[in-house]
Amino acid sequence: MKRRQAIKTIGLAGAASLILPKLLAKDLLAQANLELLKLDFGTGFKWGVATAAYQIEGAWNVDGKGPSIWDNFSHKKGKIRNNETGDIACDFYHTYAEDLDLVNQMNMDVFRFSIAWSRILPNGTGLINQKGIDFYNRVIDTALEKGIEPWLTLYHWDLPQTLEDKGGWANRDVINWFSEYVSLVANSFGDRVKNWMVFNEPAAFTGLGYMTGTHAPGKKSLGKYPKAIHHVVMCQAEGGRILRALVPDAQVGTTYSMSSIHPKEKIKKHENAAKRMDALLNRLFIEPALGLGYPSKDFTYLKEVEKHMQVGDDQKMIFDFDFHGVQNYFRIVATQSAFPPVLWANQVKPVHLVEDKAKLTDMGWEVYPQGIYEVIRQLSAYKGVKKIYVTENGAAFPDQIENGKVKDIQRIQYFKDYLGEVLRAKNEGAPVHGYFVWSLLDNFEWAEGYHPRFGLVYVDYETQRRTIKDSGLWFKEFLK
Ligand code: BGC
Repeated sequence: MKRRQAIKTIGLAGAASLILPKLLAKDLLAQANLELLKLDFGTGFKWGVATAAYQIEGAWNVDGKGPSIWDNFSHKKGKIRNNETGDIACDFYHTYAEDLDLVNQMNMDVFRFSIAWSRILPNGTGLINQKGIDFYNRVIDTALEKGIEPWLTLYHWDLPQTLEDKGGWANRDVINWFSEYVSLVANSFGDRVKNWMVFNEPAAFTGLGYMTGTHAPGKKSLGKYPKAIHHVVMCQAEGGRILRALVPDAQVGTTYSMSSIHPKEKIKKHENAAKRMDALLNRLFIEPALGLGYPSKDFTYLKEVEKHMQVGDDQKMIFDFDFHGVQNYFRIVATQSAFPPVLWANQVKPVHLVEDKAKLTDMGWEVYPQGIYEVIRQLSAYKGVKKIYVTENGAAFPDQIENGKVKDIQRIQYFKDYLGEVLRAKNEGAPVHGYFVWSLLDNFEWAEGYHPRFGLVYVDYETQRRTIKDSGLWFKEFLK
């Protein structure tokens, strides 16, 4: 701290000349770059942790909750690693107060969470489950009592099963179903929740749910996939409009998964492949909202999506979000430009150029800090993107608990490196206003079950005991 203040006052070169001859100015520069301070990000910058209902709540059939597509999918044999399910998960339904204490202990400002649609509307529409609403009231009130801001995601992948039975996101009626759900959530919680996200990563849940079939509802359908995309785009804007009308003082946002996408080699084939991947994975959902339409010029397959547009949809897809959430986990190194679904699936598997296993996370994803800088720059280049939050970033490593401690040094380094890159983008003018860690707790990692551990807090799934990892303690110190 002292060293840093001195550097600020007399400049790096001056500081270097005052230091023992052994320590060269170059080393000082390098060290100064490594040292990250909360204040560098500005006083209004929000720090938080992110979660999602199905991944932590458990209580899948408790107090009147209806089944979701994830309940059904995970109950089918062979869909999830070790046939694990989210039936119990982290039991957050019962432990929310203790878990919100942990958020406090780590000096985080924000708790990002999602609503399980079928907990409050067991059939997706119609009958309201008051016990479900009461649960979220308790979560929101407890957060506020502890001085934590609740940030609410309307949809983090768990569609009510009854709606999937009617065609799910591939049925245009979903615009009405979703509107009913959003109105209920806004009217129930809008008096206390002021920061909203319509969707979590639409490219992920449409692609994995309706194209590769690796996530719920497990469809591999060239017919349903483009329909689902268009209806999600419509709901994205409609959800924004409903929130703005019913919660006038709300900050309305939505989130996107974004990867830096590079051609493997500087040859036409790879460059074209990268362009298509970028259109499909990074640009597909934001551009229609910004009034730019679907990026079908750069990926002609997207004309399949445009086919499902009805008169007036081009205007209805537009919504002026107050903020955009960006979520970054890996980069993609593109090689193939063809588009049968199988190739698409292969491409979306992140390809890494490093051979060094130490640089891969437990998901097999490459640690590539510069990627977060690249996607923030890409997002902030859009006219119409006013504020950016990193609504998720984090990594799974093979954590071990020993004598009540989890020494996750790799994760601490990961955060330092990624935060350094977020700061670089911010210092160059990108309007980044906050950073939320994925995730508060180790949790149910979708098709990968409980194997990957992403939490700042270690969860012993047998006892539901929580232990703040060293990375959580690092944040506690960093943010104090
Ligand atoms: C999702 C999370 C998920 C995380 C790690 C994000 O794509 O929003 O639900 O757990 O990535 O895979």
